[in-house]
Amino acid sequence: MDDKKIIAVVGATGAQGGGLCRAILKDVGGGYRVRALTRNTGSDKAKELKKMGAEVMEVDIDDVESLKRAFRGAHGAFCVTFFWEHFSPEKELAEAESMAAAAKAAGVKHVIWSTLEDTRKWVPLGDPRMPTLMKKYKVPHFDAKGEANRFFSERDLPATFLLTSFYWENLIHFGMGPKRGEDGNLYITLPMGDKKLPGIASEDIGKCAYAIFRRGSEFIGKTVGIAGGHPTGVQMAAALTKALGEEVRYNAVSPEVYRGFGFPGAEDLGNMFQFKRDFESAFCGARSLEFSRALNPSMKTFEAWLDENRDRIPVEKGTRRASGE
Ligand SMILES: NC(=O)c1ccc[n+]([C@@H]2O[C@H](COP(=O)([O-])OP(=O)(O)OC[C@H]3O[C@@H](n4cnc5c(N)ncnc54)[C@H](OP(=O)(O)O)[C@@H]3O)[C@@H](O)[C@H]2O)c1
Repeated sequence: MDDKKIIAVVGATGAQGGGLCRAILKDVGGGYRVRALTRNTGSDKAKELKKMGAEVMEVDIDDVESLKRAFRGAHGAFCVTFFWEHFSPEKELAEAESMAAAAKAAGVKHVIWSTLEDTRKWVPLGDPRMPTLMKKYKVPHFDAKGEANRFFSERDLPATFLLTSFYWENLIHFGMGPKRGEDGNLYITLPMGDKKLPGIASEDIGKCAYAIFRRGSEFIGKTVGIAGGHPTGVQMAAALTKALGEEVRYNAVSPEVYRGFGFPGAEDLGNMFQFKRDFESAFCGARSLEFSRALNPSMKTFEAWLDENRDRIPVEKGTRRASGE
């Protein structure tokens, strides 16, 4: 056993936690070790982390006792919830509370809670600008995370509240990439008007989290927001045009139209984009590019991410037709 500090990472086989595991594992002389937490230690991703040098341990964030075991002896804990696995803000709240309770019980010295804004502070439930969803939320997957901040602060945990951003990978995995319109042209559809959308390569979240752990007590008790770029829809379309070698146009629909798209989570995401659009200055201001780059100098802009990932973006083949044909 060495004297390296253990960082217990929830969601180690996922985007945020995986990035953190790899950041720690690559920094061989950095003084930290990874405890990668997963429900299935036998999965390919878990085995890969083990091969890279991580300690892999089983956890279920719905089971507080398993969290206590997983955090025992750890210096740091990275905590994240998985809204899109269950679409339940109540479940996220319960899971965050369990993680906070387990971190307290284990005496963890530094917790990073991957959170987002409780949008009800800007748009109270009675505000008709956007519909209330699930009776208690405006943007369920944001609001529950923001509300859960208190589980960490009320316990006086040494916590950093990490505000993440839209993953550039949503263009690959979340169905948000360019789609062919009836006119045969490619369109990226976002209800952002001419406002900026802070985004990030999901791998960079973990790199930033590692930098936060490495800075010791500097960010304890603080909220830290990160992004790799703040492009507008027009700028995203231009970058995609260059990367894909075919014109991509920006289809700026209204949030109402987006909410009506009918896919699971469309209303939640329609409200989310409306919040980002209507509170652009606060939302971007909380995610300074300069600060993010100071934390993680290799932070990827949208263009840099596209350079590496253009071939992973699914694009339907098609022939462009002139409008009116
Ligand atoms: N997409 C975006 O643009 C975006 C932006 C900001 C924030 N977020 C937030 O990011 C969160 C998801 O993080 P992510 O993208 O890193 O997740 P992810 O890549 O989808 O990874 C999910 C991982 O969580 C683990 N997991 C799921 N349920 C678990 C449970 N009950 N106990 C323990 N582990 C569990 C799974 O690992 P095993 O199967 O190995 O257990 C899985 O690998 C969401 O809450 C979302 O709201 C997303």
